[in-house]
Amino acid sequence: MASVSSSKPRNFGAYSYSATPCTRTHQIGALFLVVSTFFVTRILDQYFSESNSVTPATDLHRTSSSGITIDKGIPQWPERGYGSHLSLKIYVYDENEIDGLKELMYGRDGSVKTAACLKGQWGSQVKIHKLLMESKFRTSKKEEADLFFVPAYVKCVRMLGGLNDKEINQTYVKVLSQMPYFRRSGGRDHIFVFPSGAGAHLFRSWSTFINRSFILTPEGDRTDKKDTTAFNTWKDIIIPGNVDDAMTKNGQPDVQPLPLSKRKYLANYLGRAQGKAGRLKLIDLSKQYPDKLECPDLKFSGTEKFGRTTYFEHLRNAKFCLAPRGESSWTLRFYESFFVECVPVLLSDHAELPFQNVIDYAQVSIKWPSSRIGPELLDYLASIPDRDIEGMISRGRKIRCLFVYGPDSAPCSAVKGILWELQRKARHFQQSTETFWLHNGSVVNRELVHFSSWRPPMPLP
Ligand SMILES: *[C@@H]1O[C@H](CO)[C@@H](O)[C@H](O)[C@H]1NC(C)=O
Ligand SMILES: *[C@@H]1O[C@H](CO)[C@@H](O)[C@H](O)[C@H]1NC(C)=O
Ligand SMILES: *[C@@H]1O[C@H](CO)[C@@H](O)[C@H](O)[C@H]1NC(C)=O
Repeated sequence: MASVSSSKPRNFGAYSYSATPCTRTHQIGALFLVVSTFFVTRILDQYFSESNSVTPATDLHRTSSSGITIDKGIPQWPERGYGSHLSLKIYVYDENEIDGLKELMYGRDGSVKTAACLKGQWGSQVKIHKLLMESKFRTSKKEEADLFFVPAYVKCVRMLGGLNDKEINQTYVKVLSQMPYFRRSGGRDHIFVFPSGAGAHLFRSWSTFINRSFILTPEGDRTDKKDTTAFNTWKDIIIPGNVDDAMTKNGQPDVQPLPLSKRKYLANYLGRAQGKAGRLKLIDLSKQYPDKLECPDLKFSGTEKFGRTTYFEHLRNAKFCLAPRGESSWTLRFYESFFVECVPVLLSDHAELPFQNVIDYAQVSIKWPSSRIGPELLDYLASIPDRDIEGMISRGRKIRCLFVYGPDSAPCSAVKGILWELQRKARHFQQSTETFWLHNGSVVNRELVHFSSWRPPMPLP
């Protein structure tokens, strides 16, 4: 509790670093760094003095600035990492180029409408595709691409009956078998979006075929009643949930935030219980404390369901918006809270959040153990001074643009955040167990067939 209620001024992680006192551990760490840097530099010097360039000029090696360069015998690391600016080239597969992509986007008979897939919490799978199509980082040349984006709207297509699980699995495999570049890297430079709690499990055999690819998903934990999670912390990227456009649009959102003093409730939770323990506890709690906690027992449809506007009008009427776990650990409510300016309180222990490399979520939200949902939680929230709440809200206002699926030409958007994360992860060189290279940079397969002659269907995985 001490750190939660600490009144020290805290820096906002995305913009500044706080100074840490220099401890013994730091000193030892610094010494180690100096020593190891010295050795690494020596080794590199010896190695690189033998050749002026480590990038052979061949058809497969790009002369972009993504590799190491040697200046007067000293290796210069690229701006990559985050660097000072984005410099990425992403190839977006065309729906007509690969047999099967259209099925993954519009269903087996092409009847699933993109407009229908754009709405709702899973709209991110369409939006990311559309925004990358318009992106200045898109390239039409595969040979110069750092990354490859594979469009698919399967979550929506499946929900609307456009494909069943078996067809989704088979169609993905068919699609991948037509991509020589996927084969070249074993999928390491390919990007897939899975916008729901099931994550990559939507593609049943994902772990065989795309376990090395970048997976963009809002879901960090879901094992989906399977033994394994499809999310890998170091490779995959958490994306924000798709908040209703009417709330995120430039100018005025449809429902405006209320001043703190005008809010009727301390906290709320406005969603269905779906038999989930945490949610049921909240509904119970609201019966004990109806003045503090708004938590109606909502249903999927009928009079006990809120319309969109009503929903946001209720959501804005509390200081804290509780976001308990549902079917899976990620929750759209967490992102919505920022747009009605209530402080999100995450009650979902396994949740992962987007852009954790650059956002300090303790500055803009609260995470509380889901095992401690009860009067204690309400007491704690009631003890937080309005001044602190205002602080969290105003910091949240500054970063929420990262949860909006706007274009990368905007100064701040979810897609921009995703591109920065991708830039950190992009590799200069691609290989796999079935990819080999020769003295002159030629890339060949096990039969020594040159890459340019690889013909689909490619063997998989
Ligand atoms: C997915 O499709 C591939 C290729 O058709 C097949 O080998 C695999 O067994 C399928 N996976 C499941 C879980 O059905
Ligand atoms: C990825 O799939 C391949 C092929 O099935 C398998 O050999 C490999 O162990 C898998 N890797 C991971 C990290 O699951
Ligand atoms: C590289 O060497 C191999 C083997 O000698 C040869 O077959 C291939 O054509 C060469 N590639 C290029 C780009 O010159």
